Amino acid sequence: MSDQSPKPAHVYAAQRDWPNYFNRVAGKPPRETLVRALDAFEADGGPDAASGAPPLSVDLGCGEGRDTVELLRRGWRVVAIDGHPDALRRLRERELPHPDRLEIRHEPFEGLVLPRARFVNASFSLPFCPPEHFAALWATIVGVVEPGGRFAGQFFGDRDDWADIPDRSHQTRAEAEGLLSGFDIEYFHEEEDDGKDALDNPKHWHRFDVVAVKRPRGTGA
Ligand SMILES: C[S@@+](CC[C@H](N)C(=O)[O-])C[C@H]1O[C@@H](n2cnc3c(N)ncnc32)[C@H](O)[C@@H]1O
Repeated sequence: MSDQSPKPAHVYAAQRDWPNYFNRVAGKPPRETLVRALDAFEADGGPDAASGAPPLSVDLGCGEGRDTVELLRRGWRVVAIDGHPDALRRLRERELPHPDRLEIRHEPFEGLVLPRARFVNASFSLPFCPPEHFAALWATIVGVVEPGGRFAGQFFGDRDDWADIPDRSHQTRAEAEGLLSGFDIEYFHEEEDDGKDALDNPKHWHRFDVVAVKRPRGTGA
């Protein structure tokens, strides 16, 4: 007899139990894609090479702030955005380098308006944008990243365990590459394995880890 009951990772993901997630990731280091992007900016001459002032980054779906803290530590101004109040409460309670350089916004991805930014970081957050809003959100991100600026983050793949949850946005590899057509790709790593979710439930992961540089206007797609 086949077991039709949902798998635990699937149940957890469908519920969007963010406070439990924030508990599990508290104190973890910044994401690898964020660090790669920051290292690349520093290799370019530093985050403020273009303007001489601390440049602006957006941390989209910032959660409890593992990447936001690193952005501040490495000299960025940060607009940190999340749809869950508990994320932002935890972020406010952290010891923050240069708290004067942080703006916290409690807003959903749906209908988001973003400032022009040198860097948009979206670690493990874009898949949680409902599919009917994803195209507009991605167009907004592409539109606000300055030429020569970067996007870093994840797209979740079509073979990921969570791909069939109705309010999720997952992409095939070709679709993920297509989203990056206005960028030069610096890092694109397809990860697919049987692992665990943040609550240690077994989960099949399929995702694309990305760092990409926005092309100057008029070059490429
Ligand atoms: C998997 S967590 C990632 C958090 C953090 N970036 C990290 O790497 O740990 C996804 C985050 O996206 C936020 N989120 C999910 N759906 C959202 C939505 N529709 N609008 C705004 N934020 C949302 C959640 O509150 C959560 O903080």
